[in-house]
Amino acid sequence: MNTSPEVSSKEFWEGVLKSHWGIDAKLNSLPGELDQNFLAQEKNGSKYILKIMRTDCPDWLIKAQIESIEKINKKDPSLKAPKIVKSLQGAPFIIQSDQAGNARLLWVQGYIPGKCYAEIKQKTTDLSFSIGVTLGGIGKALADYQNENLVREFKWYLPGSLWIEKHLEVIENSERHGIISKIVKDFKEVLPKLSNLASQIIHNDPNDYNILISGDNYRPLNVSGIVDFGDICQAPRICDLAIAAAYIVLDHPDPEKMLAALVSGYNSIYPLSTQEVDIIWRLLRMRLAVSVVNSTLLAAESPSDDYITISQAPAWRFLEKLDFNEGLIRARLRSVCDMPIVEGADRVLNWISKEKGNFAPLFGVSLKNLEMKSLSAEKISVPENPFELTREEAKVIGTENDETDTIWLGYYNEPRLIYTAPAFKKGPWKASNRRTVHIAIDVFANKGTKLYAPMEGEVFTAEYRDSPLDYGGVVILKHTTPDNDEFFTLYGHLDPQFLDALQVGDKIDKGQEFCKLGGPDVNGGWAPHVHFQIAMTTDGMEADWPGVADPDDLDFWNSVCPNPASMLNLEEHDCVYNFNKKTEVLSAREKYFGGNLSVSYNDPILISRAWRHHIFDEWGRPYLDAYNNVPHVGHSHPRINLVASDQLKKVNSNTRYLHPLQTEFAEKILSKLPSEFEVCYFVNSGSEANELALRLAQAHTHKTGIITPDEGYFGNTTGALSISAYKFKKPNGVGQADWVEIIEVPDDYRGSFKKDDPDRSIKYANFVDGAIESLNSKGHGLSGFIMETFPSVGGQIIPPEGYLAQVYSKIRKHGGVCIADEVQTGLGRLGDYYFGFEFQKVIPDVVVLGKPLGNGHPIGAVITTKTIAQSFDNGIEFFSTFGGSNLSCRIGKEVLEIVDEEKLQSNAKIVGDFLLAGFRELKEKFEFIGDVRGMGLFIGIEIIENDGAESPELCAYIKNKMRENRVLLGSDGPKDNVIKIRPPLTIDLEDAQMLLETFSGVLDGTQDWHYE
Ligand SMILES: Cc1ncc(COP(=O)(O)O)c(C=O)c1O
Repeated sequence: MNTSPEVSSKEFWEGVLKSHWGIDAKLNSLPGELDQNFLAQEKNGSKYILKIMRTDCPDWLIKAQIESIEKINKKDPSLKAPKIVKSLQGAPFIIQSDQAGNARLLWVQGYIPGKCYAEIKQKTTDLSFSIGVTLGGIGKALADYQNENLVREFKWYLPGSLWIEKHLEVIENSERHGIISKIVKDFKEVLPKLSNLASQIIHNDPNDYNILISGDNYRPLNVSGIVDFGDICQAPRICDLAIAAAYIVLDHPDPEKMLAALVSGYNSIYPLSTQEVDIIWRLLRMRLAVSVVNSTLLAAESPSDDYITISQAPAWRFLEKLDFNEGLIRARLRSVCDMPIVEGADRVLNWISKEKGNFAPLFGVSLKNLEMKSLSAEKISVPENPFELTREEAKVIGTENDETDTIWLGYYNEPRLIYTAPAFKKGPWKASNRRTVHIAIDVFANKGTKLYAPMEGEVFTAEYRDSPLDYGGVVILKHTTPDNDEFFTLYGHLDPQFLDALQVGDKIDKGQEFCKLGGPDVNGGWAPHVHFQIAMTTDGMEADWPGVADPDDLDFWNSVCPNPASMLNLEEHDCVYNFNKKTEVLSAREKYFGGNLSVSYNDPILISRAWRHHIFDEWGRPYLDAYNNVPHVGHSHPRINLVASDQLKKVNSNTRYLHPLQTEFAEKILSKLPSEFEVCYFVNSGSEANELALRLAQAHTHKTGIITPDEGYFGNTTGALSISAYKFKKPNGVGQADWVEIIEVPDDYRGSFKKDDPDRSIKYANFVDGAIESLNSKGHGLSGFIMETFPSVGGQIIPPEGYLAQVYSKIRKHGGVCIADEVQTGLGRLGDYYFGFEFQKVIPDVVVLGKPLGNGHPIGAVITTKTIAQSFDNGIEFFSTFGGSNLSCRIGKEVLEIVDEEKLQSNAKIVGDFLLAGFRELKEKFEFIGDVRGMGLFIGIEIIENDGAESPELCAYIKNKMRENRVLLGSDGPKDNVIKIRPPLTIDLEDAQMLLETFSGVLDGTQDWHYE
């Protein structure tokens, strides 16, 4: 066969294109295996594809391609086939001699923008679904197309794939040889079935280079075109889907879900039969086998061409993965096509449902009207550490407050955090997916309680699984319905005594006693109960059923292991866990609260539990919390829980009564501050603390004017808002008060004076002069200067060293008070410094603390000098009802002690440095990271456009995409283009690594929107 001889110059073909099509364009070569393809671009930007076929290309093949493409376009122009551009004479193709005198067939197609699927980073199940939809549409459009020439056998005709059998010796590696031989053997088994399946003309090569993908910036990607109809032929239509599937599964972390999405997309447009669905897995593997054998043969012909070997690598990686389970894959594919997952599954379910009430009682007594108790993520606080259920916790779970002899039931489809063994984890990180949803019903009763078979069956499994937190004794029975359909029931956590009596294959009568509940010593370590589950098939699972499913894969597992309530003679809906749905909580919120109460993320998170630096949603999905600075020493810290409940049991009153806790807390805070600070005031929040700080300054100076940097935030009370430019400047904000002067934020990335200016700190500080003058001229005089030491909502800014020293000196020269809001920066977050002002080498007159001080309990504190406190002590009582309560002081003191004892400040330094270094590396790679700044675990990443302008759109995209990938971040800054990272100080290096890798992956994905 002749490949495309490049005997003619581009200029020659440019001339041909102009004279025959009137297209005056420059040509650029595109890759092509046999033919020559050019991208033709006109001066006005219009683009076309010029296809110059190999010399021996039969014209029937081109005619067939053109006919099929036109048929598709006629049926539905949105079907994403290329457009045929006819010549000036109206011909879809022409024959033209090349410069060597060979007759060549030429045709022109419209250009389709996009990137080939192989190069796309965001290979999502949604995209896979849309590929399925496109292929289904194309298949359907070609259903009635007939062309005798296309009844042809060639190497890519999938039913004819056995040609590779003769060449298997080229696979020298014996393991690989074995893999391909097995694929061939499996293929032979299904080959006869293939000839009975619906056959038609198909594209036959929807591989990952022939599927084009495009989309608007930061919007979901979609298929923009299916190209290269060169392998078109008559074949079972399922081959088209199997071929696409063979590429969809490659190098994807979740190939089964990608495959299921593809098949479901196809089926939604062009419904498949069960026979077709059942055969896909073997066909896709055979296609990959043909591909690797073909490439190996080619490689043998051209040993110097490394590319051939490299291009096989993804297929080998996939084929060498042996942990696929064909039975479950078939069931999964049937499930997404709304088919019974195995033959007869629908009949079994109907029968069980009808038989409800007639099954022999599992415990010999009716289970009706028993209490259902929840072990769900939202309802119970066991395990204390949702990453590690202890054996002590397991032993009493659910029975902590039980009297003996009570029987109660545990829900089906209940998300639980008690499954913490590594086997439940589905990814490398703590925040990776994890199986949480119980797909059985539990019956809790005393150990030794006897169990009776609900119906007759045969012992399928009788085993003892002695690993901790496994089943202990477990029995599976196989049952047959009157229609001769099989299904299975599983009984876990049994006393293994039955091992002496039960053998696989033994018949068990309906109502026959066959086992007993085990105690924790023999049942895997749990409080005594049976885990009762049914399954429609064991194909692929055998005795190893998952008793708990991934919430993101629940539909499938619910179809394999449906609700077993009927077999307990119970109503299904009574036994399904019914919890607060996100949508309901959201709409209740909208109903009861003001519209300006915002909720984070496009897809808000309904939270159920939190632990250290992880949050769990209602399904028990873990998220890495890299945003919340309030749980400073980690969410749900056991020491905080302990002191809080202890104190609430003793006394929780106010500062009008004496109690040592208040002064102990004050001493602890003062021990962290320079000796100039001698007096503490306790309040409830940062807002209240700032409000008080303003009063202290006014009382001390008898002036009212305040200077503060632009874009600051100090709280939601009237006074705090008046000094918060971040709020009062907003379009409907209250506007700037006369007594407030705003100065430029010392932001040396975006502000007036940049990092390269050695005098920038003094230049920023000089803005204070004009502000003081203005306050004096308006008659307010200078009361003080207030600043978040590192502006946070302003964009996580680190003011240049020396800035505050210059500012403070100016303020003090005019008698003003210097207030440092350390709400965001205090208590060790910065790693090198306990407070931000230490970095600036200054000592403020007033320090304001809030958020982290109570680890979630509402506390604020204002700390100042004796002199200022005396000025404030003007005969009017200072009292804050809850500020300084015994409980608050006990918690606050505990927080400070935990920071010290768990060395959280040095952890902030280690992990913060690691994160900053990682982000700086990413900045080198991605030009839309404009700036990486921060200190310890106070980090900002400025996201910009090509021209350096702020990019709030990309920033919002990154934030939401990170959330999708289980990492919680925030965004802020005047234009909301700064990614904000300030996790609890417990975050460790492993989680920091997850953050960086996830961030990098999300940024990589944004390249998908960049294409010609
Ligand atoms: C720097 C700063 N100061 C004060 C406050 C107000 O604190 P609160 O919300 O506890 O009133 C905040 C809150 O975000 C803050 O970030």
